Amino acid sequence: MDKIIVEGGRALTGEVNISGAKNAALPILVSSLLTDGLCTFSNVPNLKDIESIKLLLSHLGAKIETDGDVVKIDASNILNHEAPYDLVRKMRASILVLGPLIARLKKARVSLPGGCAIGARPINLHLKGLACLGASIELKHGYVEAYAKKLKGSEIYLDVATVTGTENIMMAAVLAKGSTVIHNAAREPEIIALADVLKKMGADIHGAGTSAITIMGVSSLSPVSVSIIPDRIETGTLMVAAVLTGGDVKLLGAEPDHLEAVIHKLSLTGAKIKIDGKNIRVKGIDNIASVDVKTLPYPGFPSDMQAQFMVLMSVAGGLSLIFETVFENRFIHVGELKRMGADITVAGNAAMVKGVKMLSGAPVMASDLRAGASLILAGLVARGKTEVNRVYHLDRGYEALEEKFAGLGAAIKRVKE
Ligand code: EPZ
Repeated sequence: MDKIIVEGGRALTGEVNISGAKNAALPILVSSLLTDGLCTFSNVPNLKDIESIKLLLSHLGAKIETDGDVVKIDASNILNHEAPYDLVRKMRASILVLGPLIARLKKARVSLPGGCAIGARPINLHLKGLACLGASIELKHGYVEAYAKKLKGSEIYLDVATVTGTENIMMAAVLAKGSTVIHNAAREPEIIALADVLKKMGADIHGAGTSAITIMGVSSLSPVSVSIIPDRIETGTLMVAAVLTGGDVKLLGAEPDHLEAVIHKLSLTGAKIKIDGKNIRVKGIDNIASVDVKTLPYPGFPSDMQAQFMVLMSVAGGLSLIFETVFENRFIHVGELKRMGADITVAGNAAMVKGVKMLSGAPVMASDLRAGASLILAGLVARGKTEVNRVYHLDRGYEALEEKFAGLGAAIKRVKE
């Protein structure tokens, strides 16, 4: 398993390009299942999770060609309705094929995704929504078995504003008969991006980005050529790195509107942030102010930025309270940060972070995607050498992160094992 070695203490300077958004690309690539013909997706990030979803789509019968950041998918002959355990267990977002398969083939057999490090990750609301649309759902031998003669529009109330749940239901409802309203829908930019693609395919959708999405079913959808929006979590991660190291970094090809809560909180720490269209310039300062944060569904502060912000707070000047309200076990990175000298006390879903003068480099282990990124950030600012193990977690969601940091002057390298 590869590891990443970082020598801390260098201020990051220069320019860096933002890659396409993982959490937009995944549902958008899956939406090709809803069409007969060739879809072209550009600005697709080169990530392990993207490889996994392409593997699954080709297993279902799609023809896929990749050329750099362009992925072409022809789903004219989808013959297989089954997503097997060995593919789904690699990436939970595989569950996104459930809605489109039911809409397209009227049946689906998809392995239940297990939990993961950050939480149980149930899919009960995905299944509730699809059942409201008329699918019969059974759980057998670790699989979801779903059938639907004809999907019919319905009013659907989500107890939690689930992101992939909203996406799954939306991708089924677009080919259902009649009108569907999804209440308490997720409002993330990735939901809007998916709705924009579906509308370009010919779907009739209103209200994406609000908590009530109305969908009038249509009889068929046509293939499209679209570009993936920039990754707001990669953007936030790189912004934290610039502030953390007291650097001066220009992020190119970002979407500042997608991370207002993060920009607001970073400004409160004293960071100098200048927005110029799709570019964001971030300058760090010596005395980082401690700021409290509570993670919430969009447009609140994203759970996916919690670990990264915690690293910044661990070297800030005071006391910061960080509440994680989205997932039940998303403080796994705390133990590793404490081994680097961070002063953090966890009580339930709250973490009290007392800023220290300096972190010290150490061998640490990534436990999930964003926790892994936070350990790299800690290594950038710690005294001495940090060795981050199990970087395959990082490779799932960050495109060549160590190369981007090296390009900004960090002393960082990947050691292949
Ligand atoms: C999406 O996961 C993202 N993944 C996650 O990003 C992100 O952290 C999360 O949304 C929250 O923003 C993708 O988009 C591929 P949820 P998702 O369903 O859809 C509960 C990353 O690092 N819930 O919105 O799985 C659930 O337990 C990943 O890129 C139910 O109770 O998240 C959680 O507490 C990590 N029943 C809350 O909702 C359900 O049926 C939010 O989960 C579904 C969810």
